[in-house]
Amino acid sequence: MKPVKIGLLGMGTVGGGTVTVLTRNNNEITRRAGRGILVAHAAVRDINRARPDSATDVILTTDPFEVVNNPELDIIVELIGGYDLARELVLKAIENGKHVVTANKALIAVHGNEIFAAAQKRGVTVAFEAAVAGGIPIIKAVREGLAGNSIEWMAGIINGTGNFILTEMRDKGSDFSDVLAEAQRLGYAEADPEFDVEGIDAAHKLTILASIAFGVPLQFDKAYTEGISKITGDDVNYAEELGYRIKHLGVTRRTEEGIELRVHPTLIPERRLIANVDGVMNAVLVQGDAVGPTLHYGAGAGAEATASAVVADLVDIVRALTTDPENRVPHLAFQPDALSDLPILPMESIETAYYLRMQATDQPGVLADITRILGDLEISIEAILQKESANNALHVPIILLTHRVREKQMNDALKQIEALASIRGNVTRIRLEQLS
Ligand code: HSE
Repeated sequence: MKPVKIGLLGMGTVGGGTVTVLTRNNNEITRRAGRGILVAHAAVRDINRARPDSATDVILTTDPFEVVNNPELDIIVELIGGYDLARELVLKAIENGKHVVTANKALIAVHGNEIFAAAQKRGVTVAFEAAVAGGIPIIKAVREGLAGNSIEWMAGIINGTGNFILTEMRDKGSDFSDVLAEAQRLGYAEADPEFDVEGIDAAHKLTILASIAFGVPLQFDKAYTEGISKITGDDVNYAEELGYRIKHLGVTRRTEEGIELRVHPTLIPERRLIANVDGVMNAVLVQGDAVGPTLHYGAGAGAEATASAVVADLVDIVRALTTDPENRVPHLAFQPDALSDLPILPMESIETAYYLRMQATDQPGVLADITRILGDLEISIEAILQKESANNALHVPIILLTHRVREKQMNDALKQIEALASIRGNVTRIRLEQLS
């Protein structure tokens, strides 16, 4: 049988990796898919840049529309990233009756509902395994392997750059900006490093995970996002003293009132496996009612790791080309007309525990004031740490762990604590999840 011809939009890190993997594993991939997969046409930014040896037969162009309009191609692989141009190209490819594979989490999180509707109408597939957690087959695991479960919550370390930074800060006491530069050099970071550090990249991925877990439309605009740039070495050390690690976590949980959708630094007990996921590695913990917890771990970024997911999607589509095209796995795991309208909860309605760090004057009654404010708002304290004052300074650090409480109550408490004359500056608040 003739090979399936594909077109690549972008031949950077992931595009190059995809060509390399398709070529190196050509024989096995053909045996798995039932037909060969041939990269025939690729859109690149600079035609003269060096390419992998295996890409010498690929026709190159700088016009991506030439690729999506090429009638010879069955599948378009979108790897240029970003929102607008990627959306236009993917919709055009769908209109032209082509299947699409994309690693673009921003595109799916923001324009996925529109893209899936167009794909459904035209009878083509849009596959996006590489968009979440790089090489970890988490979309397939949740959409297919865990399809018998009611998913209760998911928590993931889904940005390799952020995890790399937090790990290096803890292990080597390195400076935030040095570690970020190293992640950029290694090719893990997004073009705009704010996307990694401020949690936007993780929120894109979490939005996708929430939809396939709970069967709701993609709602990136309702995700709460908080970055790691304010985490200090002190917070990392105090957390460690209390038996916790700080991770940049994406958490989505189904409650009776709606769905929590939040990305923020989080304390996790150090004995949890996920607390020990270090460096650029990603992990997603899924709590299903039948199976209990399952932990999915692997490389969340990098050329061949991400290509592994791209090629798996290609194999799925090529297999479907030879079987019943009507009988596909739905894009968001649930049939499009069976999506739920369960709301995404505003951040003030979510419930979590907290780590609080504040600078207080070392005098009688200060702790009593703080605990009274917390007590009046029914916030229960789990642990308190008061450190010695450094060099007889007037202020000492006080660290508190609380039990679970609504974010709204904690916001009210922080306003009152920060207004006390004995408290200097803002209170540092890091959310804490037991994940049990
Ligand atoms: N910048 C992303 C990360 C790349 O660091 O995880 C993969 O999406």
